[in-house]
Amino acid sequence: MPETTYPAAPEIAAPPTRGNEQTILIIDDESGIRETLETLLEIEGYRVEMAIDGEAGLARIEGRPFDLVLLDLALPGKNGIEILQLIRERAPELPVIMLTAYGTVDNVVDAIRAGAQNFVQKPWDNEKLLADIRAAIARFRAEEENVQLKRAFKQRYSFPNIIGKSESMLRIFDTIAQVAPSRSTVLIQGESGTGKELIAKAVHAHSPRKDKPFVPVNTGAVPTDLLESTLFGHVKGAFTSAISAKKGLFEVAHGGTLFLDEIGTMPLDTQAKILRVLQDRRFMHLGGTQEIQVDVRIITATNVDLRQAVREGKFREDLFYRLDVIRFELPPLRQRREDIPALAALFLRRYSDENDLPHRTLSPEALRALVDYDWPGNVRELENVMERGVVLSLGPVVGLDLLPAHVSGRSHSSSVLEHSADASLFDIMEDIERRIIMDKLERSNWNQTEAAEQFRIPLSTLNQKIKRLNIEIKKRLREG
Ligand SMILES: Nc1ncnc2c1ncn2[C@@H]1O[C@H](COP(=O)(O)OP(=O)(O)OP(=O)(O)O)[C@@H](O)[C@H]1O
Ligand SMILES: [Mg+2]
Repeated sequence: MPETTYPAAPEIAAPPTRGNEQTILIIDDESGIRETLETLLEIEGYRVEMAIDGEAGLARIEGRPFDLVLLDLALPGKNGIEILQLIRERAPELPVIMLTAYGTVDNVVDAIRAGAQNFVQKPWDNEKLLADIRAAIARFRAEEENVQLKRAFKQRYSFPNIIGKSESMLRIFDTIAQVAPSRSTVLIQGESGTGKELIAKAVHAHSPRKDKPFVPVNTGAVPTDLLESTLFGHVKGAFTSAISAKKGLFEVAHGGTLFLDEIGTMPLDTQAKILRVLQDRRFMHLGGTQEIQVDVRIITATNVDLRQAVREGKFREDLFYRLDVIRFELPPLRQRREDIPALAALFLRRYSDENDLPHRTLSPEALRALVDYDWPGNVRELENVMERGVVLSLGPVVGLDLLPAHVSGRSHSSSVLEHSADASLFDIMEDIERRIIMDKLERSNWNQTEAAEQFRIPLSTLNQKIKRLNIEIKKRLREG
């Protein structure tokens, strides 16, 4: 066989590496400018994406992370400054360099105020523009690293069963770590289902009391006449049904933590007694004469605004100040949507395991719907929706069809008769009722009075249904 000779491979210029796959978004309506910039940046090794107006640019920013945006000031539709403000809402740290032909002082001031890193006048000087871009990206990267280091530092305290990467939850983790070691009284405020009990348990679990009891009492659920004997115990014969002596939960929790849940609805008399225990760390059994000394850390939780309850005379001011030493404000889930995917995944795992099913995952559309929904019942509602999805699922993926209609937003498009095969008649009826009411409300511009009139039912009945069916009332849109 004759030896084949191959021509020497041509020298291929190494691709520029300086940009290191950093991606820059150009938002400019003039194609000439876009193309010139594209060429300049690609030669430098940047990846470039382009948008011809602000709206298109915003859509790109939502879809993927960029390292920098070059934004024209004079755009058709929304101008550059308006777009800059919208970019800031979506990506507060993303560096933006404004480009303009009309560099009046006013524009510069407005742009800097709206958060532009820099301002470059057309026609620009290539080297200066590239230097500005490099500097802005370097600063951005350094800041991101800094934030990540801080996060990693915070992760020293791990709360493995509490999900949260939102800024508000990270702050809560910090506070838990800070206050757990002390005996300070803790007050946890938050809408129902936001995780108040979970936080109370974490405070206890990270305290030196962790091997002693954590005793929860739902003070709102215990009948008033039983509450005091539950908390303080009683001697034999203290009241008719007290056939034997009984320890109170303050004693049961000795050395540990007493968690008084739903404290906002506690009767005023009982509040006075609690105040006394907090002051003296001692109390007496009902009907008893002997003082009992206890060492108990008190954590309370409420979903009503206690300050407001104080103003309304329903809660003792002196007790409020005793309880409000360290306060956790748990934000509603709709204010920390970035936590939704991880929470959903946790609950999918939990309920797959509980039902002996292979682990279920969410379809992208279903996840989108979960992130968009407002969750009036917060994490607890998400947990219930995920449990339902797992139980109804026939395959590995939980899709939109397995979410309740009010969550998936399918209420108007799909047929009223479409329901998953194993939905109960009750669920189906509720679902249909919800769709009909939502539809009417939407048509009446969310005017409940008008909707009630058209249904020929009292407004109060409509409101009860709205509440029961978890219908979220949209803000009334202005006509026109
Ligand atoms: N950040 C979180 N990570 C993991 N699970 C959570 C989180 N927050 C809440 N949960 C779960 O959600 C459910 C509701 O939480 P929890 O009972 O603590 O809320 P709550 O505020 O006490 O509610 P309620 O006001 O209804 O009593 C629980 O199953 C809890 O484990
Ligand atoms: Mg609770």
